[in-house]
Amino acid sequence: MNILVTGGAGYIGTHTLIELIKNGHSPVVVDNLSNSNAESIRRVEAIVGTSIPFHKIDVQDKEELEKVFSRNTFDAIVHFAGLKSVGQSVSHPLEYYSNNIDSTLVLLDVAQDYGVKKFIFSSSATVYGTPEELPLKETNRTGFGITNPYGQTKFMLEQILADVAIANPDFEVTLLRYFNPVGADSSGTIGEDPNDIPNNLLPYVSQVAVGKLEKVSVFGDDYDTPDGTGVRDYIHVVDLAKGHVAALNHSKPGTEVYNLCTGTGTSVLELITAFGRVAGKEIPYEIVPRRPGDVGACYASPEKANKELGWFAEKSIEEACEDSWRWQSQNPSGYA
Ligand code: NAD
Ligand code: UFG
Repeated sequence: MNILVTGGAGYIGTHTLIELIKNGHSPVVVDNLSNSNAESIRRVEAIVGTSIPFHKIDVQDKEELEKVFSRNTFDAIVHFAGLKSVGQSVSHPLEYYSNNIDSTLVLLDVAQDYGVKKFIFSSSATVYGTPEELPLKETNRTGFGITNPYGQTKFMLEQILADVAIANPDFEVTLLRYFNPVGADSSGTIGEDPNDIPNNLLPYVSQVAVGKLEKVSVFGDDYDTPDGTGVRDYIHVVDLAKGHVAALNHSKPGTEVYNLCTGTGTSVLELITAFGRVAGKEIPYEIVPRRPGDVGACYASPEKANKELGWFAEKSIEEACEDSWRWQSQNPSGYA
């Protein structure tokens, strides 16, 4: 298939490009590089041994986007482009609402004009807000207890996409709710490259391991979890990337939603210990108060994706730590 990949220069996008090409698809990337570096695309090209058409475009720019559509015939769109920092979204809500919502509206508008039939959207576990039950299922309530504008944009966009699919019966929408993506390609040449001090646990731990940061702050040890620290469903980014290929292979009218997760929860302390083992060093940490807005535990059932997409998360948390460590230790300054 010819596939438009928005945000393809980013963390999940780059790993997905590899899986798309391995499976015979032809991706075209648009990205404004607001949170990425064109070097990431060059590194993907080196891994797959083929060139990837890339356009430095803001998805909100309809005129520029139309030029890309007019030169290609896309069978599907995988829409990663968006801003993703929970904390930043609280301090810059308008930027988040306008970037994430406007870009998707513009993209949908152009996609409709050019008759694209399939749309895969990067949603997030954040839409479940305060989990109603664990493990979470796709049928659980969404929108209740979302504590930040980033999460609201994902919740609103799920609704917008479902409405567009209702209005256009031959337009298929797949909402993929990612849990916590971690790890990197096993080559060690691509990976997560946060602009500032990382907000997420694994990139923070790996920067402590490489000596860029002093110690990990563990946000709370008084949750109702086995060791009191937060529990999450960490999924290897390569497994996540494969989930997009599985979703492209699956055809069903209307809107379908899938959790991309492992079904297993790992605590903050378990993750720190696993990373220390892989890096061959002790990771210093200290327990600090809970981070506002965090839930104690969040993990989900992958059963629907297993059954309907034939997709399974295969990589372990140890492999994710090994791959992140390879990326971090070989590229201490990321792509810079
Ligand atoms: P990322 O920041 O590495 O990648 C997103 C890419 O989109 C970046 O390259 C950025 O430059 C680009 N971009 C942003 N706004 C754009 C615009 N208006 N026009 C063109 N390009 C634009 O993030 P990621 O971790 O790869 O996440 C990809 C998607 O998955 C995002 O939508 C994110 O919200 C979602 N998601 C991520 C996580 C996670 O923890 N990484 C979890 C759940 C969902
Ligand atoms: N944590 C620490 N110290 C840190 C960073 C995180 O103890 O320095 C803890 C958190 O309290 C949490 C766990 O590690 O218990 C994971 O935190 P992350 O920030 O890595 O991930 P979250 O689950 O909080 O956030 C992720 C995505 C968001 C998404 C959210 C809800 O990063 O985009 O899941 O789905 F909104």
